[in-house]
Amino acid sequence: RTGAKVERLPLARYTTLGVGGESEVWFVSTHEQLAEAMEQPYRILGGGSNLVISDEGVPERVIRLSGPFAERDLEPDPTLSGDTEIVTGWVGGGVPLPGLVRALQKLGLSNLEGTVGIPGQVGGSVWMNAGTRFGEMFDGLHTIEIATPDGVKQVTPADLNWGYRNSGIPRNHIVTRVRLKLKRGTPGEVQARMDAADHARKGQPKNKTPGCAFKNPTLPGGQKVSAGLLIDQAGLKGTRVGNAMIAPEHANFIVNLGGATAADVHALLEVIREKVGVPMELEYELWP
Ligand code: EPU
Repeated sequence: RTGAKVERLPLARYTTLGVGGESEVWFVSTHEQLAEAMEQPYRILGGGSNLVISDEGVPERVIRLSGPFAERDLEPDPTLSGDTEIVTGWVGGGVPLPGLVRALQKLGLSNLEGTVGIPGQVGGSVWMNAGTRFGEMFDGLHTIEIATPDGVKQVTPADLNWGYRNSGIPRNHIVTRVRLKLKRGTPGEVQARMDAADHARKGQPKNKTPGCAFKNPTLPGGQKVSAGLLIDQAGLKGTRVGNAMIAPEHANFIVNLGGATAADVHALLEVIREKVGVPMELEYELWP
């Protein structure tokens, strides 16, 4: 044994929706521990946003990055950095994104401020290229370290087939650390761009939620349209199944009114698929 801490825990407390049964959680803080955890079927749990976990939990090991995988070194690497563009040291996949974005603003380092307000951890955010229309994770990545069943490798964005809400990284691969590629600016400039992105979230629900349920679909004419707008136009705001509801504030959010079950959320997703005529790709990850 490599010494990973293993515990059976209710997963609800690790998700922003607040739903999910008991499972075996592996807290890994070294590559050796991670490799051992990956020897049997596993799932990776980051910040627990964007995720709907079954009330029965999952049979697989649930891996959570901790220790050094949750630390960040934002010092510019002198061998890779120039006057205007810098490359940082390693930032762990288990680092919470909101704290990272705040720290970069204080340092006057730009490129990731468009992701302000996104919950979750760096690993999951990179894996799905989380973002808003003000910016996304791939705006600020230099190197990505990925644990795969065949070992650890380092890639650059150019090696990946990434795009909108998609990194091209396979599902069973784990983003363990990244180096950030950032532009030097001033805290004030970065803050101003953060304010714009922040403002766009003002109308979003305050309840427990995994975030936006569907990716914004591209219409046959090639135009991207808000999934929230489509669900709203279908008249579904405020629709309730059990204690889950389509948010009255923004129709692409499903919220937990308290005591919602995964089954409630699945039923609401089904209602949306049925009533909205346009095919939309789910943004939530469903376990199982
Ligand atoms: N709209 C409605 N009704 C609704 C929702 C939206 O009419 O119920 C309209 C808005 O009034 C606006 C337009 O649709 O004119 C676009 O809405 P919004 O600005 O909220 O942008 P979005 O495309 O719906 C995206 C991201 C959000 C992110 C916001 C703000 C996706 C799927 N969604 O939403 O991200 O917070 O921009 O930057 O990309 C997430 O990914 O989890 C998420 C919530």
